[in-house]
Amino acid sequence: MTQTVSRPGTGAPRAPLPLDVEAIRADFPILTRTVRDGKRLVYLDSGATSQKPRSVLDAERDFYENHNAAPHRGAHQLAEEATGLYEGARARIAEFIGAAVEEVVFTRNTTDAINTVAYALSNAATAKEPSFRRYAVGQGDEIVVTEMEHHANLVPWQQLCERTGATLRWLGLTDDGRLDLSDLGTVVNERTRLVAVTQQSNILGTINPLEPIVARAREVGALVLVDGAQSVPHQPVDVTTLGADFLVFSGHKMLGPTGVGVLWGRYEVLDALPPFLTGGSMIEVVRMEGSTFMPPPQRFEAGVPMTAQVVGLGAAVDYLQALGMDRVQAHEEALTGYALEQLQAIPGVTVIGPPDTVARGGAISFTVEGIHPHDVGQVLDDLGIAVRVGHHCAWPVVRRYGVPATTRATFYVHTGYDDVDALVEGVRAAQRFFGVTPEEATA
Ligand code: ALA
Repeated sequence: MTQTVSRPGTGAPRAPLPLDVEAIRADFPILTRTVRDGKRLVYLDSGATSQKPRSVLDAERDFYENHNAAPHRGAHQLAEEATGLYEGARARIAEFIGAAVEEVVFTRNTTDAINTVAYALSNAATAKEPSFRRYAVGQGDEIVVTEMEHHANLVPWQQLCERTGATLRWLGLTDDGRLDLSDLGTVVNERTRLVAVTQQSNILGTINPLEPIVARAREVGALVLVDGAQSVPHQPVDVTTLGADFLVFSGHKMLGPTGVGVLWGRYEVLDALPPFLTGGSMIEVVRMEGSTFMPPPQRFEAGVPMTAQVVGLGAAVDYLQALGMDRVQAHEEALTGYALEQLQAIPGVTVIGPPDTVARGGAISFTVEGIHPHDVGQVLDDLGIAVRVGHHCAWPVVRRYGVPATTRATFYVHTGYDDVDALVEGVRAAQRFFGVTPEEATA
């Protein structure tokens, strides 16, 4: 059933949503449960982790019930089946982002993928194998990030700089929640070895203009890593047009299991990097005196991998592809536009981030005058509405905008207008509960 009823308070019709929310909800077992004394679960925290459709849960269960074995090892039928399922999922996930299959490395999550690159760059400086030294980072080199990065795309680079003597530089933010590119030409310069930038901010919702950043990085010969944790689940992303050297994302934010993420790298770059974690599976020849390593992606997949989770992520990608990523994006854009309009119509509510849907995704952070974000979250939770509160692992961003924290709602394929209405009503309920009526809030 498509949700098109009138806008509360205006009587104006809302645009039909591109996805069939009721049909999709039926695929998510968790959405049938209630919370807080029988209330419908209004899940607006997909940006933290997404819920899982039955097909993903079934894929993992089927793997354990029928095919469980360690892939790439063993001479038995189960090992062969497990290898086929693991590599089959890799092929489908590669296709999902337009990549060659040998460019897709499985990691635990985005954080793990970024650390894999950061440690490879510092390990490169001391690598015995000369071909691994090509991208070594050291004293005098610079790494560039932005002020809107999630801690996962900031702290590993700070640590890389501490290990190597390199310097961290960053692009700042404008007052309306966008990247300030006015000093791009000087911040990214001949000393820059890598630019690490998020495609979509987890806290502001901003979708960043990657083209000028990639173009400038190319001019100075720097690598580019794109954090796709909040973009790959929500919009079509194709590495052939992205122009970057690395794209990283997490399975659990895109309907897949926890414990699996992806590091995509351009093959010649991956091939020139030394490993981060070492051990079984990633070696060519091992002698007591030393070892040689497999080519990518195996070089970066030490140990028995998270096989069931990779299989589950393959099923998640199938589910998203069946919906169509263009429609997923259009669905969230419609919800975002509606939510921005409704929330900003409440006196006392301030959206932290772009105020409209231009180059913006569905993460909406806001403050409510006179109420701490944690208290807003508490009232919403009492109503069965799950949001995230705090600094959202992007502390420099809340500091930049002078707020202690925000309340954040994030949307996904099962989100409907009724969820947004519940959120808006919940914010009004918080204002009533704390005696901050709309009139008082504007006074
Ligand atoms: N990175 C996740 C978020 O933004 C946890 O909530």
